[in-house]
Amino acid sequence: MDVYKPLGLALLVLLGLCSQYALRNKGAALDSRPNSAASGWATFSWPFAAEPGEGPRRTLLQDVENDKHADEVVKQLIARLNASRLAPLPSKPEERCALTRGTWCLQYHLQAPVPRFPPPYFDKPCPNDCNGVGNCNYEHGMCYCPAGWGGPDCSQPRKRPCHHMGSDKRDAGWHNLTAWSHTRCAGVCDDDVAMCYCPADTKYGHREAPPGAKPGAPPEQRGRPLFMCTPGTDKDGKKVEWGGTPYEDIFGPEGWCNADKPKFTCPCRLDGLLGLTCTEVVEQTCINQCSGHGECNQGFCKCHAGWYGVDCGLRRAGALPQVGDQWTTKPWIEPTLTHTVATEDPPLTPTRRRPYIYVYDMKSDFGTDLMQYRIEGSHCLYRSFTRANQSSFVGYNAYAAEPVLHELFLTSEHRTLDPEEADFFYVPVNVGCLFDVYGWNEIPRWPRGLLGPRTHGATMMQREAMRWLNATFPHFARRGGRDHIWMHPHDEGACYVWKEMWPGVMLSHWGRMDFPHASNTAYGQDNYSLPLHHASHPGDWRDHTSLTHPCFDPKKDLVVPAFKQPQLYNKSPFLGAPVKERDIFAFFIGDLRMEPGRDPPCRYSRCIRQRLYNISRDQHWKEAHGVLFGERKDIGNDASYSELLARSKFCFVLPGDGWSPRWEDAVLHGCIPVVIMDDVQVVFESLVDVSLFSLRIAESELPRVVDVLKAVSDQRLAEMQAHLAKVWHRYRYMGLRMLDDSARSLMWGYRADAGGKAPRTPGSEYSTSRQDDAFATILQWLYHRIPEVHGTQGSREGAAAAGAGALVEAIGAVSDGAGVAAA
Ligand SMILES: *[C@@H]1O[C@H](CO)[C@@H](O)[C@H](O)[C@H]1NC(C)=O
Ligand SMILES: *[C@@H]1O[C@H](CO)[C@@H](O)[C@H](O)[C@H]1NC(C)=O
Ligand SMILES: *[C@@H]1O[C@H](CO)[C@@H](O)[C@H](O)[C@H]1NC(C)=O
Ligand SMILES: *[C@@H]1O[C@H](CO)[C@@H](O)[C@H](O)[C@H]1NC(C)=O
Ligand SMILES: *[C@@H]1O[C@H](CO)[C@@H](O)[C@H](O)[C@H]1NC(C)=O
Ligand SMILES: *[C@@H]1O[C@H](CO)[C@@H](O)[C@H](O)[C@H]1NC(C)=O
Repeated sequence: MDVYKPLGLALLVLLGLCSQYALRNKGAALDSRPNSAASGWATFSWPFAAEPGEGPRRTLLQDVENDKHADEVVKQLIARLNASRLAPLPSKPEERCALTRGTWCLQYHLQAPVPRFPPPYFDKPCPNDCNGVGNCNYEHGMCYCPAGWGGPDCSQPRKRPCHHMGSDKRDAGWHNLTAWSHTRCAGVCDDDVAMCYCPADTKYGHREAPPGAKPGAPPEQRGRPLFMCTPGTDKDGKKVEWGGTPYEDIFGPEGWCNADKPKFTCPCRLDGLLGLTCTEVVEQTCINQCSGHGECNQGFCKCHAGWYGVDCGLRRAGALPQVGDQWTTKPWIEPTLTHTVATEDPPLTPTRRRPYIYVYDMKSDFGTDLMQYRIEGSHCLYRSFTRANQSSFVGYNAYAAEPVLHELFLTSEHRTLDPEEADFFYVPVNVGCLFDVYGWNEIPRWPRGLLGPRTHGATMMQREAMRWLNATFPHFARRGGRDHIWMHPHDEGACYVWKEMWPGVMLSHWGRMDFPHASNTAYGQDNYSLPLHHASHPGDWRDHTSLTHPCFDPKKDLVVPAFKQPQLYNKSPFLGAPVKERDIFAFFIGDLRMEPGRDPPCRYSRCIRQRLYNISRDQHWKEAHGVLFGERKDIGNDASYSELLARSKFCFVLPGDGWSPRWEDAVLHGCIPVVIMDDVQVVFESLVDVSLFSLRIAESELPRVVDVLKAVSDQRLAEMQAHLAKVWHRYRYMGLRMLDDSARSLMWGYRADAGGKAPRTPGSEYSTSRQDDAFATILQWLYHRIPEVHGTQGSREGAAAAGAGALVEAIGAVSDGAGVAAA
């Protein structure tokens, strides 16, 4: 039997490796097929096993031969398997907390996990079953209505008419109103959302559901969209001031509204409609795709019976789990679904750590309405469905961290469904989405008649959301709003939030610290320093907003990464791309706004980009130092942005209108960030010792920039690069299904190109992992803020987050608390 020993050991090692690998990759198929190898060995029989009567010498020789052979095969297998694996992730708290400042990170990891309890189920009915059009939130017995419907039971109209719409839902001022607006509608207006379609009397017109149909019944025929497509004449050839297209092209027999193959086409940009004549229907996009338990209507999930919540992720008490499951009937939504941990039955082992976060289900006015008011498919989203319902990332949405964080909080293992035990409350208000939608048409509420800059609109919406929370739930007032988390994806972040919200946790991409401060936007519509009076607040709004607080307070707020999907850093060595020589000394490509008349006061980017551009030109940076600086046309290189970043030693981090995601671009590509923006903290600067892997240069030092960079020795550069490889993963979001899949397929592609060898460049061990990613970093930091936010520093409860010393006592307190809450 001796002969089996080494083999058995090797098998153990092999299986061990396999299961570790499988765990880390959630059971993904392995190239080296460990299972078939393992079962092959298990049934292997030895033809030369010692039999009675055979000479011991021969057996011994054969055994040795076979032994050697088996050893060799196993060794090769192990080597192949080992080579195909990523380097192990750090597991010790000290390693995982590398380069962090203070104790927030260690405190989190020293926490002992506690058991999870089964989720609470609710069954509080709603009035009139929400008229059949809305969703009943069974926790509160409150109806959440789609755009167009309102009142406590979704039976009252809640309209958003098109601009200057008559009672026939068509434009009432063809000749006597010249004002142009995005939503003047020459066809018929869907006044639930202010969307324009061909009129009912045309072949491809919008025809409402017949009278007497169920409330919310879909139109008989949706019709071809007609927005951004307005006639320059009426049917008698008389000029119409607000349009430009010949009447016949739209309404004639060969025109857009009547012809099967129209000579003239209007755009099909609404989410869910593709093709030249908008006939290709694809899935529309909703938060977490209604968890597979509802139908998505332009951002509003109509949940199937038994499900509720903004993403239909919550199950009504007594409803069966399978009710309305779409996973099989709509297989194309599966690649977009992230499962909701908080609603699952608990695992047997204790896995739960604080902070516990309650995610509000916001009234539609502050959430899904904005999505439904979109007329541009890609607005407000980070992903959508394209041809044949392929899910794909949207090309560009600077504010995409908004939907990403919403989905992450909803699906996080830190989410609690019990507000009583919550350490924090996440308030998902779609303000980033508002910025896209605001200019198109009036938003009929919070409050009416807003005509100011978009920033004023955003503030008002958040303020109304806060007042609604405060009037509806007890938790806002409980801790003075300090435990409420608000995301501000806008260019100038939280500079202009309403002062009563300010005690809360402000997440933004803009770490501007100076106070007093004024808007520096080059886009007048965003100027938050514009004096403005409005009936809904006494006096000038600035006295309630920007004049009362800084944009960012590192003690209670956090600068969080902008959202970058893996394809945007696909050439990064951290994702496994082959390492390129860093042959570009320093790098920046971006908008400069230097064309005459574009930005006369040179306000954009605080004039830093423009001044640097001139200096780079005057000092011949490109020829003399290998620095690429400017707009794409100045660079003279058509390599992708990602590739250029991956080939650069230093990358400039300069402001845009407010924030610009240049820090993320640099860090995700292993390029040393060179920060030039005074009094502005970069992402996680309050958490991570960024001085170990980045440089900061004062705005007054612009002419000396190259000298400063040249003074960095090769050794120091190498040290900074090594540090960067240990923290880069904190600057990107993982954990949503599409993100994990995308990172994995990129890394697997690179591994296949390398003959099955996994990348081993420093930092690439994180390529497909969500361990300590951006979202995890936010949660870890929130944990350490619990005592301060709860006002319990020094008390027994507060000890839970007060560090290792108080840990043992704290665990008792935490599990007691959880037990009481669940009972
Ligand atoms: C696996 O690979 C690592 C690094 O490439 C090496 O240090 C280690 O010895 C290998 N282990 C085995 C069992 O081959
Ligand atoms: C514009 O003309 C329509 C009829 O053509 C009329 O009903 C409406 O009152 C007019 N509006 C104004 C502002 O004159
Ligand atoms: C795509 O999704 C839409 C909406 O669910 C559906 O009507 C359509 O049949 C789907 N198309 C394909 C090719 O599966
Ligand atoms: C919240 O509601 C309470 C009680 O109605 C009120 O006193 C308080 O001023 C409100 N807070 C805010 C910020 O609106
Ligand atoms: C904002 O408006 C105020 C008042 O009109 C003006 O003084 C200021 O220069 C503007 N700021 C920007 C950035 O446009
Ligand atoms: C940059 O140089 C151009 C002339 O080439 C000049 O017109 C412009 O004002 C300069 N801009 C700055 C910010 O120095």
